[in-house]
Amino acid sequence: MKNILVTGGAGFIGSAFARMMVTRYPEYNIIVYDKLTYAGNLDNLLPISDEPNYKFEQGDIAHRETVRRVLSDHAIDTVVNFAAESHVDRSIMGADAFMHTNSIGVYILLDEGRSHGLERFLQVSTDEVYGSLAVGEAVESSPLAPRNPYSAAKAGGELMVRAYHETHGMNTVITRGSNTFGPYQYPEKLLPFFITEAIEDKALPLYGDGMQVRDWLHVEDHVSGIDVALHKGAPGEIYNVAGEDLRHNIHVAHDMLARLGKPTTLLKHVPDREGHDLRYAMNCDKLRALGWKQAHTWETALEATVAWYRNNEWWWRKIKTGEYLEYYKRQYAARLAAAGDS
Ligand code: NAD
Ligand code: TYD
Repeated sequence: MKNILVTGGAGFIGSAFARMMVTRYPEYNIIVYDKLTYAGNLDNLLPISDEPNYKFEQGDIAHRETVRRVLSDHAIDTVVNFAAESHVDRSIMGADAFMHTNSIGVYILLDEGRSHGLERFLQVSTDEVYGSLAVGEAVESSPLAPRNPYSAAKAGGELMVRAYHETHGMNTVITRGSNTFGPYQYPEKLLPFFITEAIEDKALPLYGDGMQVRDWLHVEDHVSGIDVALHKGAPGEIYNVAGEDLRHNIHVAHDMLARLGKPTTLLKHVPDREGHDLRYAMNCDKLRALGWKQAHTWETALEATVAWYRNNEWWWRKIKTGEYLEYYKRQYAARLAAAGDS
């Protein structure tokens, strides 16, 4: 392993992975390949922009010729694929981009990677492919039962990874991460959205009764888990990366507001997300057996995250304009009005 292509590396988790790899492994070259969609942001890579073992290439993972050129120009031996459309609410509004990137894009990367002779291909996936679990926790052999267009398209990508391993003998690994939070997360996802809105004393739209359950994981723990799976995972295997820390959305919001010193009256119960998955839960003994340990607890991770958004308004204020405001209006105006707030 020497020249690693980090696709989707200008997004939230991919950029955390790129920042970690560039400093942790000076002997590797880290090439970030990203389309720079609304969620891709070169500011996320500023901390490493002058490092000699980091480079950036703009492109779409579904664009065969560009993928081929980049694999060849940088003599890539390893691909770690983070590139995705990642927001469930947007996939409910329309799923074209989700199919394009999360399914077709993964296929193109695999196919070009195979022709190029890649040594290793790691696909970053999600606990959402297991669907909503009423009780218990998913292990890697649990059935795939995605329930929304985002997770269905991610499951499609995963199945093609499996096919390229079984059929063509590609050396692949899949990781399935749980709900991740931390610095540089686009402020459409629950925590960065609520933190940045609460800083401005705006109403926080909590879907339904807020009793949905998610398993929370700090981004640094997520990317260290991917690093372990990349270096130690067996070919063709899948590894869950979970916080194993289940919390109701309403309690997540309360904890966050307490740290920010803001009142819970900011929370507004709004009409629920369509097809809302009630509960995600995973077991990650398999990854722990390879030596992975979390460095954060919920308390330390939340504290650090709230502090980061407080101290880095330069980062999120310039995002919350233009396309972001259009999306906000489409997603929340009617819901907040229905809740008696706008
Ligand atoms: P993100 O939306 O912040 O970033 C996605 C990145 O992919 C962006 O930089 C975007 O520009 C890029 N991208 C999108 N389409 C592309 C294309 N066709 N070609 C090249 N680049 C493209 O997402 P994230 O939260 O950082 O998620 C990264 C990965 O982790 C995704 O695969 C997601 O499914 C998975 N995941 C996310 C979470 C979470 O809680 N955020 C949890 C588990 C797994
Ligand atoms: P999100 O961050 O979108 O992640 P995911 O849908 O992948 O789990 O949402 C996390 C939870 O928070 C989910 O149950 C939906 C809920 N949620 C709200 O209640 N209000 C919001 O405005 C958002 C964005 C999410």
